[in-house]
Order: sequence, then structure tokens, then C-alpha cells
Amino acid sequence: MSKSDAIKELYKQYVMPTYAQSLTLVKGNGTKVWDADGKVYLDFMAGISVLNVGHCHPKVVEAVRKQVAQATHFSNLYFNGNQARLAERLARLGLGGKCFFGNSGAEANEGLIKLARLWGHEKGRHEIITMKNSFHGRTLATAAATGQDKIQKGFEPLPVGFVYAEFNNLESVRALVNDKTVAVLLEAIQGEGGIVPADEAFMLGVRALCDEKDLLMLCDEVQCGMGRTGHWFGYQNCAGVKPDAFSLAKALGSGYPIGAVVSNAKLADVFQPGNHASTFGGAPLACAAALATIDAIEEEHLLDRARTVGKQFADEMRKFILKYEHVKEVRGKGLMLGLALDQSAKPLASLLIENGLLTLATAETVCRFLPPLNVKDEEIEEALEILDDCLAQWHGLGQKEEEESAQEEAPEQAAETPAAAAWAETSETKPADEAAAAAPTEPDAAP
Ligand SMILES: Cc1ncc(COP(=O)(O)O)c(C=O)c1O
Repeated sequence: MSKSDAIKELYKQYVMPTYAQSLTLVKGNGTKVWDADGKVYLDFMAGISVLNVGHCHPKVVEAVRKQVAQATHFSNLYFNGNQARLAERLARLGLGGKCFFGNSGAEANEGLIKLARLWGHEKGRHEIITMKNSFHGRTLATAAATGQDKIQKGFEPLPVGFVYAEFNNLESVRALVNDKTVAVLLEAIQGEGGIVPADEAFMLGVRALCDEKDLLMLCDEVQCGMGRTGHWFGYQNCAGVKPDAFSLAKALGSGYPIGAVVSNAKLADVFQPGNHASTFGGAPLACAAALATIDAIEEEHLLDRARTVGKQFADEMRKFILKYEHVKEVRGKGLMLGLALDQSAKPLASLLIENGLLTLATAETVCRFLPPLNVKDEEIEEALEILDDCLAQWHGLGQKEEEESAQEEAPEQAAETPAAAAWAETSETKPADEAAAAAPTEPDAAP
């Protein structure tokens, strides 16, 4: 029995089957991962946007190694310097207020929800408007906040107090505001919803609506935060928009579990001792990993890199729209990119894995690319080659024949296809209406 088969057997017997695993991975370095049988893959999903500085970044490894030998945990009943320093860094990068630390994205979003409810409590307001096709986590409250039936089904009764607006439709948000509304919660780019960026006008409109009605604007930055979109936080893609608070997790600790609620000054002292807590939240080891991650992003200028490499990668992928019938759109920002197909993306994602490129199908028809922000130019080229080959195979085409016909036809098609003209104008396209509206129906393998 191979090593990976032995591990699969143990999973079969002892691990609850909440995920549909494919490979058995044993080692990572930068953008590369190795499976139990020694095969190397390019990791273009980076733990679903966890490894923004790549696997085993030397700075993070060193910080964790040092800290683990000094102290892993103190209770939050004592001050710890790493937590203080991390809160300061996040407050300065974000909203100038204060932070609360937990251990995961769902826990960070629970924190946001509780913060909003406590803030609105005396005014008798508790209802939160979230978006259809959003994803906020798998705890009961965050599943209730998630605007997707498939996440909620079977777990009823769910906590009350969430209503769902159309994403990128300000009137739909406005129509849900009533005297119980306390906040609007949204992702600046819906990740699980299919890499759908919020329009700038929508973000500005939500901010203005929140100001007008005295509501809190809350952003879930769990997937699109920590430099992923070419800015520290996804909402910063919309100049002039600042939420009142946002959640972080995933890439914050480069794989060491940590989540955070980051607030502005208005919400900084809403939580008081006894209101909210988490045993492991903000422990020295997790904060050491997060501080080293922030240092690495700053020192290696990874925000700029995410923007420039992301644009090159997206531009190259857009060429596949002309070349392959079933490729319809490339969308996203920075290195949070989706290749939208006109049918299920799962067979393509499986083919890519077989050929050494890890990606993830999402929202049924979208193949999602989330490589580390320090991905090398040659790794992008290699990924594009694998993608090109797999698209050809998946379309049932011989690669050589396809390249020849694309070369002959591309100039004419570019003039004729409206989508191609739009892509020529901007590298950050808006989703097609149909793709944005396509509600996922099956449980995904992740998250
Ligand atoms: C936007 C968003 N929010 C929240 C979560 C939940 O995070 P976690 O799995 O760490 O609880 C995820 C996970 O994919 C996410 O993408």
C-alpha cells in the first residue's frame, strides 16, 4: 500500500467526512507542495488564501520557532507583548480603532456579529443585512449570516436576525432596512460566491446608506484580506470606503490559526470584560506568526507584486476566452482570480490537479486561482502552460491543432466578440449577470 493510500484508509475509518479530499500532501515550500508519493505540485490555491507569503516563509518559520521555545500560550487574563504589537499593526493598517483576537474566520465573523448586536442593543436593533451568495463560516450564526441555502440546510433552526440582499444592488439593500436593522455585512470580493468583486458604486452606496441610517458597515476580509487583492484589505480597492469593522483570519497567521475583529474608534470600546472572549485568541505564538507575516508582506512589497503579477496572469488567462469555447470570463482583483466557464468547473479542476496545478472549483462554474503573492514569474508561466494544456484536453482538442487555429482566428474574433472588447479596456472585469446569479446547488469540497 502506498503512503497516501495508508493515510486515506485512516481517514476513511476515523475522520468525519466533511471534506472531499483529493491528495495527501506532506511538504510545502513557497508555491510548491509535495504529496506523500513525492510528486510536486504548483499550489495556486494556497490553502484557500491562507499561504499569502507562500509555504514555510523563512521569516514566519523563524518567528514561530523562536516563540515556541519561549512561550506558546498565556491566558488573556495577562498582557502579552505580541498581541499588543499585532493589534497596533492592524489598527494602523486598517481603521485606527482596536482589535479582538480569535482563531478562525467564522469566529472572527461571530465577533463582528456580536459587536454589532451589542452596539445596537440599547436601541433595540439587532438585524444584519448580508448578501446572497456570500460566505461567512460554518458556525450556526455565521451559517445563518451566509446567504446560501446549501450551507444552512439541515441545521435549522438557525439563529434569527439575518436578511439577504442582492450583491451589487444597492436598492435591494435599502429595501431591507427597517427599525431593527443594525448593520450591513459583505465581502469586498465574494470568494466562495465565485470571485465576484463588489462594484465601487455599490461599496460607496452601502457606506452612504449606513451613514444615513446610522448602521454599521462590516466587511468580511477573511478570504480577500492580507494583501490578496493588491491592497491590505479588499475594501481598499474602493477609494473612500471604510467599514466600521472587519474580520480577518486565513492568511493572517500564514497557516497558524488566528482570526481578528478590527474596528474603528467608534466601536473600539463596545466590548467590555465579560462580553466576549476566546481562550486561545491572541496567544503569543499565533501573534508571532501574524507579525512575521505582516513584515514579510511589507518587506517584499507583496501588495505591488499581487497587483502587477495578478494583472499579467489575468491578461494571459483572458486569451483563453478567444481560444476555448467554454471559457467565458476572467474576473477578480490582484491574485484573487476566477476563470468562469459555461459549465461545471470540477472536471477541469481535477484535470489541473492531475497535471500538477492545484486550483479549486467554486460556485459550480468558476475555477479559482489564489497563488501565494510571492509566486515567481516562471511559476505563473508554468501554471499558464498547464492550464492551456488542460483546457485543450478538456475541450477534447489536440493542443497543437488548437494553437494553430487560435493564431489564425484570434484577430478577427477579438474584433467580433463584445467580451473581448471589454477585456481589452480593463483587466478587472465585472461578472456576467448569469454567472453572478448562478446559485450553487451542491456542497463543495471546501471550505
Ligand atoms: C469570506 C470568508 N469568511 C469566512 C470564512 C470562514 O473561515 P474559517 O473556515 O476559518 O472559519 C471563509 C472560509 O472560506 C471565507 O472565505
